[in-house]
Amino acid sequence: MAVAVIEKRTEDGKVIRIVPGPILLLGAPGVGKGTQAKEIMAAWAIPQISTGDILRANVAGGAELGKKAKILMDRGELVPDELVNEMVAARLLQPDTANGYILDGFPRTLGQAEWLDGHLAAQRGSLPVIAVSIQVGYTQLLRRITGRRSCPVCKSIYNIYLQPPKVDELCDLDGTPLTRRSDDTEEVFEERMRTYESLTAPVVEHYRALGRFDEVDGEQPVDAVAAAVMAAVLRLRG
Ligand code: AP5
Repeated sequence: MAVAVIEKRTEDGKVIRIVPGPILLLGAPGVGKGTQAKEIMAAWAIPQISTGDILRANVAGGAELGKKAKILMDRGELVPDELVNEMVAARLLQPDTANGYILDGFPRTLGQAEWLDGHLAAQRGSLPVIAVSIQVGYTQLLRRITGRRSCPVCKSIYNIYLQPPKVDELCDLDGTPLTRRSDDTEEVFEERMRTYESLTAPVVEHYRALGRFDEVDGEQPVDAVAAAVMAAVLRLRG
């Protein structure tokens, strides 16, 4: 992976070098955290750390942890903090996180946020986190969730209503049949939204109060949202 240092030209023509550091993408189910994480990853060569993806890999692998997690995920509830914090701690030990990473779907409770803040404060040289919250209305979220399909091989994300593949239900990149997440039904989405409002919305307020926080309108085309998210990151780090 290339070294993730971004060059930015200032208004007076100087070029400054910015290290992305830890970036939190916050927002309700379906706002586009995963889609945007992949855009940033491609542009800046820093990894996406999605706790949802790590949990789904454990489910697919049949691990004991995965079996317990699947029951909660299929109900739209959260997996216990200790378990998720441990997963994130292990992932942050990987060398590809040295210059920055995107946390997608974490932290999701105030307990996880406090754990993360403490964990990073204890790491010498770590930049403080910056948080970008993506906003999308309820009706659009429902369409995004119920229409989402993804490629089990290359992980590309599609939407049968909003971003359909060129050939029905097949990945554009490798032709693999697309799959649908078991928690992407309308019923589970409603529960995920209730969980979001009660447990995760306070996390957004936590980072808003700390500063180094920005919000972007997620109801624009993917490229426009990506440009807004990256501009917010550069502003917060610059
Ligand atoms: P997780 O996988 O994190 O799900 P989520 O937060 O509900 O978010 P989603 O992945 O559903 O949506 P997204 O915002 O990434 O949107 P996407 O880019 O895919 O978590 C799943 C479960 O795991 C949780 O319910 C919980 O049980 C457990 N879990 C995970 N993390 C946990 C944690 N920290 N603690 C405890 N438990 C945890 O986009 C959605 C759709 O919209 C796609 O079809 C896409 O193509 C489309 N789309 C995206 N952007 C646009 C756009 N700009 N225009 C049009 N369409 C768009």
